[in-house]
Amino acid sequence: MQIKLDQEHLKGFIEQKDIDAILPDIEQAHNDLLNKTGKGSEYTGWMDLPTKLDDALLDEIEKFGEEVRAYSDCLVSIGIGGSYVGIRASLEFLISSQKLPVYYAGNNISSGYLFHLLETLKEKRVTVVVISKSGTTTEPALAFRIIKKFMQEKYMPAELKRRIVCITDKEKGALRGIADREGYRTFEINDDVGGRFSVLTPAGLVPLAIAGIDIKALIAGARKAQECCSVMDMEKNIAYQYAAARYLLYKQEKEIEVLTTFYQRLAFVEEWWKQLFGESEGKDGKGIFPASLSFTADLHSMGQLIQEGERNMYETFMVVKDSGYSMTIPRDEQDLDNFNCVADKELDYVNKQAYRATAMAHYEGGVPNMTILVPQFDADSLGQLYYFFEKAVAITGYLLKVNPFNQPGVEAYKKKMFELLGRK
Ligand code: PA5
Repeated sequence: MQIKLDQEHLKGFIEQKDIDAILPDIEQAHNDLLNKTGKGSEYTGWMDLPTKLDDALLDEIEKFGEEVRAYSDCLVSIGIGGSYVGIRASLEFLISSQKLPVYYAGNNISSGYLFHLLETLKEKRVTVVVISKSGTTTEPALAFRIIKKFMQEKYMPAELKRRIVCITDKEKGALRGIADREGYRTFEINDDVGGRFSVLTPAGLVPLAIAGIDIKALIAGARKAQECCSVMDMEKNIAYQYAAARYLLYKQEKEIEVLTTFYQRLAFVEEWWKQLFGESEGKDGKGIFPASLSFTADLHSMGQLIQEGERNMYETFMVVKDSGYSMTIPRDEQDLDNFNCVADKELDYVNKQAYRATAMAHYEGGVPNMTILVPQFDADSLGQLYYFFEKAVAITGYLLKVNPFNQPGVEAYKKKMFELLGRK
């Protein structure tokens, strides 16, 4: 596994003896996950998903993606929560390998947003993928109704069938009913994998393959992480190190974790992470609040609060070793801005110094921090990152003694919404 975890700036906040003290609990969490004896174990199918994924299914999805690309100018991906953020996070991270534009719908209930989207789609050859594990969520269901009508007016019935794809449960939910009755192509979301853990199931893989992403490399990365993050060895398992550090900081009343990146392409990975961690841990009156910032922009605003505000937070930085671009800073004869000190250097060198300066200043200001080092912006690294975070949140969830795999609070909102709308 090429992803690394730097914990230098935890010194003084977490000592080896603190980790030793919770080691029995980590071992218990490890065994409960492995033996499926912990809370919510019926939704732990994500654990061996990378190695269990059938290569024949990956071939089929990849081939399907190529076919769809050949007759489409764009893809509309309809979904919310776990049926949305992972797809967008992947495409923004892998922007340079994307081959087909993707628009999103069903992630809000804004009429203006949908109006402008349909305007944009008018002159394009469109394919639509609707993703909903439950098949009953309000936002994607209504977006699908509206977009389906647009598609029915644009295409003849036979053409329509190859331009609408439904990804949902194999038998439950309204979306399954619609797909079966109207004859749309379907893919199944694994029963034992919850929405926020579903990016490596067909829920994420199908839209990503249509967009031209190398899904086999994504899975290869996740397989590496599965191997490395499955050993009960605190020296080797960085997901367990991260989980232990988070738990110990929370016990010191550091109740906010700020995930921070110096790269715009990681902004939606932060959104994916927020859903994964917030929805998995935030229950029974417990949970670390997952926040995210985008540096260096937010250093000029939120940086003040982090440096000198209430000491109730810690930071996790995500740093990418190879930015993938070369941009040299020009030398200026006049040097009126006094920046010839970095002339002829890479812009990314300055970005890295900004990270180092921030990590040191915040640590000295009383904010412990860790850094996740990602090799590069490629599918393999992203697959590693996804699995690393999934395994870590499962462990902290069990350390916190909550069920990390349910989301009763989200269901409560959905139920109230149905009541208000008069939906049976
Ligand atoms: O993690 C979860 O299960 C939820 O946040 C879901 O991903 C979200 O509510 C969307 O649900 P569905 O895919 O069933 O439409």
